[in-house]
Amino acid sequence: MLDIQKIREDFPILNREVNGKPLVYFDNAATSQTPQVVIDAIVDYYSNYNANIHRGVHSLSQEATDAYEKARIKIQKHFNAAHPYEIILTSGTTDSINLVASGFESLIQKGDEILVSALEHHSNIVPWQMLSEKTGAILNVIPMTQSGELDMDAFAKAVNSTTKLVFVNHVSNALGTINDIETIITTAHSVNAAVLIDGAQATPHIKPDLQDLDVDFYVCSAHKICGPTGVGILYGKKEWLEKLPPYQGGGEMIETVTFEKTTYAGLPHKFEAGTPNICGGIATGVGLDYMNSIGFDAIATYENELLNYATQKLLKIQGLTIYGISQHKTAVISFNVGAIHPYDIGTILDKLGIAVRTGHHCAQPIMDFYSIPGTVRASFSFYNTKEEIDVFVNGLERAVMMLS
Ligand code: ALA
Repeated sequence: MLDIQKIREDFPILNREVNGKPLVYFDNAATSQTPQVVIDAIVDYYSNYNANIHRGVHSLSQEATDAYEKARIKIQKHFNAAHPYEIILTSGTTDSINLVASGFESLIQKGDEILVSALEHHSNIVPWQMLSEKTGAILNVIPMTQSGELDMDAFAKAVNSTTKLVFVNHVSNALGTINDIETIITTAHSVNAAVLIDGAQATPHIKPDLQDLDVDFYVCSAHKICGPTGVGILYGKKEWLEKLPPYQGGGEMIETVTFEKTTYAGLPHKFEAGTPNICGGIATGVGLDYMNSIGFDAIATYENELLNYATQKLLKIQGLTIYGISQHKTAVISFNVGAIHPYDIGTILDKLGIAVRTGHHCAQPIMDFYSIPGTVRASFSFYNTKEEIDVFVNGLERAVMMLS
């Protein structure tokens, strides 16, 4: 049992009011809120040991380097990667995906097939489209079903000897569906295709074991797991990271530079050109420690309770349709009420202090599949409560009455 009231005290922002009402923050799939320990770690860094890393013999630089590399090890252990150098720190999930896509330009050929799922965020579609345009590779789509799940029979039929890369999210940001990534990875590997899993929406709820999954690349963002914005995690298997060329040139990623030839640093520095987000990396480790102190099993159980409670209440509202009704879902509810535009609902909810996301959620192909312009999306975290869901449902009923 989680002590939610005690957990809420860790998040100063949860005490604020919006438009004169207590904040109800249900936009956790966009970004999670930040616990005081992470805020403290950021203040501590800039107050006490702000320095550039891997570059100085002076004490501050060494302290900062130690803290940054310790954070990398924390991330490695959290995800059970085999080596710390398989963890590359980037600026976000989008940056991580673009790094891999750019690297594959020299490894993929005309006629090779890239498979991407119909449930993807634009950040896991557009970089691969750009890659296929540059290389002549063929981009095919794993279709989705009406319930918001991937059509796994169609996937099994689509995989063939020309399939070189498969890209799927662990959890859909727009619908909350948890995809069967175990089967996807095994099937893709049976034809020697590499798999990249976008874990941005899974990692706030699930602790993946990357060695057990045997995945080639796994990416996510710190700001959805109680860390700061501007930090992304890219896990890559050693053999893949060694094969990929550097993403950006600059300081840090080199071994030697002359005007005739530059040789590159080893992993992970080969992919970390320039001064990184040092404070952000350190704070990411603190965010993960915080979430682990609560426990991912407890988080998943509690969030599932919130999901079921909210789903039952919402389904009582006349004309409300939930998109994404998989049995395997994180605590995300995407819905519309009749023909009311999602923005109108979102605007009235905001007046009541309730934060939800509205629109296409950077997943236009999913909206096209359902022939809708967008949805209202409520996404819950372990610090939300059933009382907040009651406030939200009452607010929604008011909004529907005003807009009908
Ligand atoms: N990708 C984030 C979301 O789904 C921003 O809201």
